[in-house]
Amino acid sequence: MFLSRYTNSSKMLHCISRMNSSTFKILNDIPTDNTVPQFTVGRKNGFLPWGTPLARLPEPFKIIDQILDEAPYYKRDGTPGLLATGSFGEYVRENLPLLDVSNIKDSALLFALYRDYTFLTSQYLLEPCHLHYLATKSKDYGLGRSRLPANISVPLVSLAKQLDAKPFMEYSCYATFNWEKIDPTSNLDPQNIRLIRHLEGSQHETGFAAVHIAMVQHSGELVSNVQDILDSVEKKDREEFDICLKKMLETTKIINVKMDTMWEYSSPKAFNNFRSYMMGIKSQPMFPKGVVYEGVSKEPTFYRGVSAANDSIIPTIDNLLELTNNLPDNSFTDMLRDFRTYRPVNHNAYLSYVEEKAKSIGVHAFATLDSNSTVLYQALLDQVSEFRERHWRFTKNYILKHSKHPRATGGTPIITWLPNQLATVMQSIVNIQSFIKEDKLSHENKQLYVELTKKANTQLRILNREVEELKKEYHGQDMDFQEVEGQMSKIAQSQSETTYGQAKSAVA
Ligand code: HEM
Repeated sequence: MFLSRYTNSSKMLHCISRMNSSTFKILNDIPTDNTVPQFTVGRKNGFLPWGTPLARLPEPFKIIDQILDEAPYYKRDGTPGLLATGSFGEYVRENLPLLDVSNIKDSALLFALYRDYTFLTSQYLLEPCHLHYLATKSKDYGLGRSRLPANISVPLVSLAKQLDAKPFMEYSCYATFNWEKIDPTSNLDPQNIRLIRHLEGSQHETGFAAVHIAMVQHSGELVSNVQDILDSVEKKDREEFDICLKKMLETTKIINVKMDTMWEYSSPKAFNNFRSYMMGIKSQPMFPKGVVYEGVSKEPTFYRGVSAANDSIIPTIDNLLELTNNLPDNSFTDMLRDFRTYRPVNHNAYLSYVEEKAKSIGVHAFATLDSNSTVLYQALLDQVSEFRERHWRFTKNYILKHSKHPRATGGTPIITWLPNQLATVMQSIVNIQSFIKEDKLSHENKQLYVELTKKANTQLRILNREVEELKKEYHGQDMDFQEVEGQMSKIAQSQSETTYGQAKSAVA
């Protein structure tokens, strides 16, 4: 049926995403046709690729395997790679031929090539930044390379066009299409994951990416839960709705528990050893004038860096619960929307579908017609808040304790953007109490409601105080895009003139 209509040509690979957002079709089974796009949202695979990420490339692309094996700061055998000696850029310019990628039919190969060219891109552009960061003892990143050579940029842009993706490293390249199972019969928990490509090559880097992947392995259940909730609202089946909300609550709890294993698998102290290569071009002082993709255009480009803001779990729940609607109308929310375009095109189409469907059938309105359903809905909001609260704690411990750089890898202001969403969800938990009639609640739901409302009120007060304090240390955190871009140029001009050569010799 649906998928059989979309086979064979790369043009057709995109039809799925271009469907009307009120009629998104979910994959119920794993396809047998290898031209079906890897990132097709399904009840089984969720937001993971439906196939297994390709770990080794066939001829004539094996040279890319060789370069990416040599690249990481630490190679698989633990010895220093090209990035550790500052020789990656030169090596790639001299050894990578301009390969033809214009006629790739197999979707796993297509995405693997896209992944690999984005690794080459980030490593090439940001190699000087990491060396500068080490040479200046974590003070700043200096300037990145402002031109991407044609042997990387031309194939990358061609692959990105075929996938309708950005020609820059996305989260799907770094995490969800970058794993191998150590034991193929076991699940995708962090201890069973080996990364295909590395930036730095440490176990902390593997652990960091692996925790994300381990969470996404549960997204198939989440997609099923969302679909079942939407169906029950359409049928106005209250009993079914409450059962589905409870099931989704269980799934979100499992995902949140997996998230907490980050502390165990990746040390906060090690994060900045690989974070440099995840930075983007957009809103970053390292690229005040963007990057010219040679052989493609003379005009500079600006893309956001790798960020799990491109993961689809939280945006899906935001959209189902109609939280996205409640986000303040400001430049931070514009950034959130912009992030939605940095993900596989089918994921973006799915998010639009959930957002529009939830709004048109009125998930929030249906939930709040009944006090017990409202508490279950509130408990789901609490899971989103838990995620974002833990996430804010990650940011403070993994980033703010070790760096004063004002922008996150995706280019957002480091101390104000995340709280924009966190405060919104906490406020929603508090506000929803106006729909709840306590005398209608079951004993269990009454206890839950009191606990959740109290917790959100307290956390909101703490968060507001914290952000006001942090603003004294970090400047320019309330600015919108245009102001940010202006500020970026000024920072770049006043930056120390430490050259790549100086930084390179400083770490040698
Ligand atoms: C050490 C762990 C982590 C740190 C330090 C961290 C840091 C950040 C930062 C600074 C941002 C701001 C966006 C930008 O890059 O400009 C962000 C966004 C985001 N990250 Fe993470 N992250 C971590 C782990 C995770 C994990 C495990 C997930 C799970 C999939 C995740 C999901 C998200 C999401 C959904 C956003 C968008 C924020 C929102 O919607 O409120 N992050 N992250």
